[in-house]
Amino acid sequence: MLVWPRRELFAMPEGIYLDGNSLGLMPLSAHQAVLRRLGEWQTQAVSGWDEWFGLAESLSPALSRLVGAEPREVIATGSITANLHALLATLYRPQGERKHLLATALDFPTDLYAMQSWARLYGAELKVVPSRDGQTIHEDDVRAALGPDIAVVLLPTVLYRSGQLLDVAGLTQLAHQAGALIGWDAAHSIGAMPHDFHGAGADFAVWCSYKYLNAGPGAPGGLFVHQRHHHLAPALSGWWGNDKGSQFEMTAQFRPAPGAAAYQQGTPPVLALAALDGALEVFEHLDLAALRARSLALTDLLIELADQHLLEMRVITPRDHARRGGHVSLLHPEARALSAALRTRGIIPDYRSPDVLRLAPIALYTTEDELCQTVRVLRELLDSGAHRSADVSNPVP
Ligand SMILES: Cc1ncc(COP(=O)(O)O)c(C=O)c1O
Repeated sequence: MLVWPRRELFAMPEGIYLDGNSLGLMPLSAHQAVLRRLGEWQTQAVSGWDEWFGLAESLSPALSRLVGAEPREVIATGSITANLHALLATLYRPQGERKHLLATALDFPTDLYAMQSWARLYGAELKVVPSRDGQTIHEDDVRAALGPDIAVVLLPTVLYRSGQLLDVAGLTQLAHQAGALIGWDAAHSIGAMPHDFHGAGADFAVWCSYKYLNAGPGAPGGLFVHQRHHHLAPALSGWWGNDKGSQFEMTAQFRPAPGAAAYQQGTPPVLALAALDGALEVFEHLDLAALRARSLALTDLLIELADQHLLEMRVITPRDHARRGGHVSLLHPEARALSAALRTRGIIPDYRSPDVLRLAPIALYTTEDELCQTVRVLRELLDSGAHRSADVSNPVP
């Protein structure tokens, strides 16, 4: 039986790390995997491609388990932004009145920027589901916005500021009943909880690997495209999306690889993929329900501690387990200064403009005691006001 947490699998820095929902800590297996690929480059030079040619595809079984899909429906490639463009270019087909795109007012900016680009290209509009409280999205408002004019919806599985988890299966069904396609941004859920994108019938999904998957800064992200769309050739094709068997025939004719692999475009970043390969070892044989259960136990504890000791900070993360992602967000007008002051005291949270302090207890490596210590230090800061002299000039808060 596994013993939680699994700190021995990670390079644990000094202090308390609560920012794994921004950049996960380095798994020792990722370090090893990169060293191995560097060694191959050193000794084999271009012959290394014999090994690296199918590296991205070799990660699909592990990734598909994490997102609840068939291996052919996923591929490690690109960034969330690039993958959104690639998927929208193919799947967004405005027809007559049904031409607009739908997102929410609380989406991560890059999702909105990507959707706006496609709205502009097609003379359509990006409609946004408003938030009633500025922190969360009410699912009735998504339902209300899903009119006959919407061609495609993109929603976050977990909202990046408040940590609200949306009902993927329910909203996917709603979108389909309304005649729209639906995609999901799983940046804040992959590696934190189980998914079932195939079972839910989602049309597509995108994610990054640098958060809960711990694959390192700028690691290649990934995408899911449901098998019902595999007959479509990707609109933005590149030679790395060609069928492997004929890729090096170098003809002018693009022959898409089977499934999601066709959405690759150029040569993959092998060293970064190596880190993802190594990072995925941590999840091999891991019971994702147990991972989620520990994540919820940690966020339960943090919410309880905040309720008891941090009365001036409002917990904006939903309390209902079915509505909660992997982090806890605390609202305070001085959140930025509190975040900076915690950092100088060896506790790494993060801050999201204008007033949110995000704390992410990671099931794999955060301890209960670290959460108690963090709340104690926050209490001291609020009592003393010492955070008001913290340096808040860092452009990456
Ligand atoms: C929800 C969400 N989407 C997208 C991104 C970033 O996208 P990309 O990987 O293209 O930089 C982030 C980054 O934190 C995010 O939180």
